[in-house]
This record gives sequence, C-alpha cells and structure tokens, in this order.
Amino acid sequence: MNFTQFKNPVSVIVILKMLKVGAPVAVPTETVYGLAAPISNETALRRIFEIKGRPADNPIIVHIGEMGQLTEVASIPDLLLATVEKLTTAFWPGPLTLVLPANRSVSSIVTAGLDTVAVRMPNHPVFLQILRELGEPLAAPSANPSGAPSPTRWEHVEADYQGTVAVVDGGECTVGIESTVILPTVNEIIVLRQGSISEQELREATNLPVRVGGSELEQGASPGTRHRHYAPRTPVRLVYSENELTDILKLHDNCAVLSSSTSVLHTIQLHLTQQSLYDVLRKADNLEVTEILVHCTDDVMGNTALMDRIRRASER
Ligand code: TXA
Ligand code: MG
Repeated sequence: MNFTQFKNPVSVIVILKMLKVGAPVAVPTETVYGLAAPISNETALRRIFEIKGRPADNPIIVHIGEMGQLTEVASIPDLLLATVEKLTTAFWPGPLTLVLPANRSVSSIVTAGLDTVAVRMPNHPVFLQILRELGEPLAAPSANPSGAPSPTRWEHVEADYQGTVAVVDGGECTVGIESTVILPTVNEIIVLRQGSISEQELREATNLPVRVGGSELEQGASPGTRHRHYAPRTPVRLVYSENELTDILKLHDNCAVLSSSTSVLHTIQLHLTQQSLYDVLRKADNLEVTEILVHCTDDVMGNTALMDRIRRASER
C-alpha cells in the first residue's frame, strides 16, 4: 500500500525523479492523461494495474519520445516497413497507435501476453520532454480508474485519486478522446479503436484499404475494447432530437443536458464537443442529477469516434 500524499500538480522534475525510482505518475498527452511507468520496471508496471483496477488481460500502449525507440520495442516485418514509415511520417507525434509484432524484451505485463505491442509517439510538449529526458519508453494507459471516464485535465486525475497519484499539469488535452488504434497489415489497415485520426486520413496516407475491425477475433486483438468503458456513475441516455429532449424534460427535469447546440435547451446544460466530452461527463456526474441526456446532433453523430465513446458511456 502507498499512502504518500502528493501536493498536486507536481513539477516535471518531481515526475522524472519518481519515474527513475519506479513509481507510476500521471502525465498529460494530447488525447487524455495517462498513468505512466518505465517499460523496464515490472514492479511499476504492476502498480499501474493495481492503481487503476485494470484487468490483467488488457495490454498497455508504449509511448516513445524518439523514432529510434520504435525498433527497441517492435520488430517490423520487411513487408510492413514502407506502410509503417508512411504512417509515422504522416501522424507522429500524434494520436495514432500502431499494433506491431513485439520484441521479446518487452515485458508480458505491457503486452498482456500477446505477441504484439501497441506503440505511439504522443504530441504533447510536457510528455515529450519527460520521455526525452528519461530516455526510455513509458507504458501508459489512460489514467482513469478502469471503466470510468478518461481524464483530460490534471484536476480529473486529482479527483479520481485524491492526492495518492502524482500528476503534472499539462493543461486541457486538445484532442480529448483516446488515440486511434490500428493494426497495419500488408493488404489493409484494420482500425481496432476509432479516434480522431479518421479512416479517410489513414487511406490517404497509406493508399491501402481501411476497415473498422468488428469480428470477435479482431476485437480479441484489442482486448480493451471488450471491457466496460468511459461510464460515469449517473445513467447516460442518448437523445436524438430537440422534441424528444423536451418530452423527457417535461416528465423529469432533474437531468443534465450535454449538447453541442448553442441554444438554451435546459437550465442544466453543458457544452459538448470532442474535446470537452470527458470533462462534461464528469461535471454532470457531480451535479447529483438523476440522468445525463446526451443530445445527438448531426455534428456529434457525424463524429464516429466521439459517438463510440458516448454509446459506451451509456452502457450499463
Ligand atoms: O490516447 C491514448 O491512446 C491514451 C494515451 C494515454 O496515450 N491511452 C489509452 O490507453 O487510451 P488505454 O490503455 O486506455 O487503451 C489502450 C487500448 C486498449 O483498448 C488496449 O486493449 C489496446 O489499446 N491495446 C494495447 N496494446 C495492444 C495490443 N498489443 N494489441 C491490440 N490492442 C492493444
Ligand atoms: Mg482507457
């Protein structure tokens, strides 16, 4: 048990010291905050699973600070080299995670025993500075307790762990939802988790067909997508029109409305965008309302990665 209380947010210097002694810390990325540990420290890696209450069969993404570290963790088959180069040139640093054959040196705690490893180079100045000064890749899942909404501000991490996890302030995450996870193959790109990098962008960068993976086998290739995700404590309901919203609010008005619309629809209303999703889900959850109503406007429905998170948040 670790009863240390941190005075958050802590500085980058404290974060680096803690990583060097093998303690997990929370760091900002452009997508969501992560809970990071050096890939060579199995004690610290195990602590990540304990802190989050994460199932051991859910592998963790490895974050690298420079391109040379890619081949330290992954063995890229010759036939995939050109595609991987196109992808990393187009999207790194950025919110794209590549699933590649893992090097034997990568701990099975990181890969959850799979023969692949998920890798990305994040695009956040504070995290890149930490990675580069440490000189070692960091394994990091999203910092939220397993199943809860991801954190997009340091204050979210503080609220989740009450000072027991050190977190550095990197501001509000600009992307706001987790990275796109893909499995590049010789013939096609398979999307295992949708994110802000779209199928069309992937197609344009690689000249390969892109398919959103759906079969059980492919979902098995990204175990995290099987688990319950992103859900606040308060029930979440999807509402598809203003009329439907008005009808529900007539019956019970102790609801929070999340909407991308700028018109006033309800007294308790929070502005929904891809960037603000987790922040407004968390805020609504703290308002003691009986239900969170998510207004699915055309712009929200058109963002399939955002809709994926909203649907999962509404699953009980
Ligand atoms: O944006 C992000 O990806 C954030 C930030 C912190 O980088 N991280 C994140 O990690 O969302 P996490 O652990 O919450 O989600 C990682 C996803 C899970 O669905 C996991 O199953 C999948 O990536 N994954 C990790 N390693 C994998 C592998 N070897 N093969 C297939 N899927 C993998
Ligand atoms: Mg997560």
